[in-house]
Amino acid sequence: MNTIVVGLQWGDEGKGKIVDYLMEDADVVVRSQGGQNAGHTVITNGKKYVLHLLPSGILWDGKQNVIGNGVVLDPIGLVAEIQKVEAQGVKVTPEKLLISDRAHIVLPFHKELDVARELALGDQKIGTTKRGIGPTYADKINRSGFRAADLLKPDYFREQLPRRVADANEVLKKFDLPTFHADEVADAVLQAFERLKPHISDAIPTLHSAWKSGKTILFEGAQGSLLDVDFGTFPFVTSSNTTSGGCCTGSGLPPNAIQRVIGVCKAYTTRVGSGPFPTVDEGLSEYLHNLGREFGATTGRPRGCGWLDTVLLRYACMINGVTGLAITNLDGLDEYETLKICTAYDIDGATVSLPPSDRSAWDRAVPIYEELPGWKCDTTACRTYAELPTNAKAYLNRFAELCDAPVAFVGVGPDRVQTIIA
Ligand code: GDP
Ligand code: IMO
Ligand code: MG
Repeated sequence: MNTIVVGLQWGDEGKGKIVDYLMEDADVVVRSQGGQNAGHTVITNGKKYVLHLLPSGILWDGKQNVIGNGVVLDPIGLVAEIQKVEAQGVKVTPEKLLISDRAHIVLPFHKELDVARELALGDQKIGTTKRGIGPTYADKINRSGFRAADLLKPDYFREQLPRRVADANEVLKKFDLPTFHADEVADAVLQAFERLKPHISDAIPTLHSAWKSGKTILFEGAQGSLLDVDFGTFPFVTSSNTTSGGCCTGSGLPPNAIQRVIGVCKAYTTRVGSGPFPTVDEGLSEYLHNLGREFGATTGRPRGCGWLDTVLLRYACMINGVTGLAITNLDGLDEYETLKICTAYDIDGATVSLPPSDRSAWDRAVPIYEELPGWKCDTTACRTYAELPTNAKAYLNRFAELCDAPVAFVGVGPDRVQTIIA
């Protein structure tokens, strides 16, 4: 059975942990979109790893990891990430990691262009991770970007690069940002690319033969459904299709290769960066931050925290075709007396159960809540669904009912072993 693991909120739902958990029974794991904006935390045997571009299966021996064509790849950043995990004792060999030669390349000036766009937006800024994601995808859609296959031909790359660098410099000068020399960019990128070369190939035949020979494939989503460029809270989104459809376009595996879609979501809601967040709650944010929780894995920024929003989740379950929910961080609510669940929004007096498309409507969306009693005890040692407190099970049942999707897994702590099968 091949499975998509997709985030249902605004990212950081705990996808890394769930992929790592499901990896035991899988052979291949594919990243099909996003780039180093992702930060996936995996804690296993007491060791913590934060992965940005490397699929979480890299921590397992004997599994194949694929960075698909839909990913935007920063060669300098990826080499640094490989060096970091290798220092933690993880081997990154060509057998373990395959990189699609169709993946688009994040160049150093893309990151500065990301900064420039944010400056230009002023107080309307997106709050990006500044990893060059938007500008690289823009070049892809504009049909002017470089792909990994182009870096295999250094002469072509060196010949094409000066024009692109000149275009970028023109923008950067306007914002007093550092400008670039094409020869220096080419040297730095091609030097990093040397480390990656043995990993580059056309990933599609490999993925198809894995599928045809009955191997188990996992798709590791990055970001979350409400950050999807089509379905998210536009324009406060990332620049890729983070929802399940992106797995096909970003890997070359077709829809009929996939049987299961696990939607990962927290037992509450978090968001980092700007944009609408109807259920945000200062008290809950402060409470979780005081516990040392909810700081971004990529940028270290504190995440805003709020109550469970089933308007978002209902919609995310629909568009992703979620077959099972993986609800993480249930333990984050352990001490709360009363829990709120947002069941709908009131927008200008109308009750709506799905997110609005009109960006201005978000500012007028007032959550409609129902309240459930908390369980007020520690769940972190629970290992079976039956062991969970009665009120926690009632919360999960209502959660599933409002999202119209069954609960498949429940997380009661960050470690691999703190995952319960429902
Ligand atoms: P991802 O981007 O979706 O992989 O999620 P992140 O790794 O950015 O953020 C999720 C955070 O929650 C990380 O710090 C995880 O270690 C942590 N986490 C995941 N599941 C659980 C859980 O069930 N309980 C607790 N306490 N932490 C969890
Ligand atoms: P994972 O995979 C949470 C957010 C940024 C910003 C918006 C656009 O760890 O869940 P970008 O740099 O992509 O142009 O930023 O998207 N964002 C994430 N938020 N988790 C992520 O990834 C994110 N990747 C991007 O904060 O609001
Ligand atoms: Mg994350």
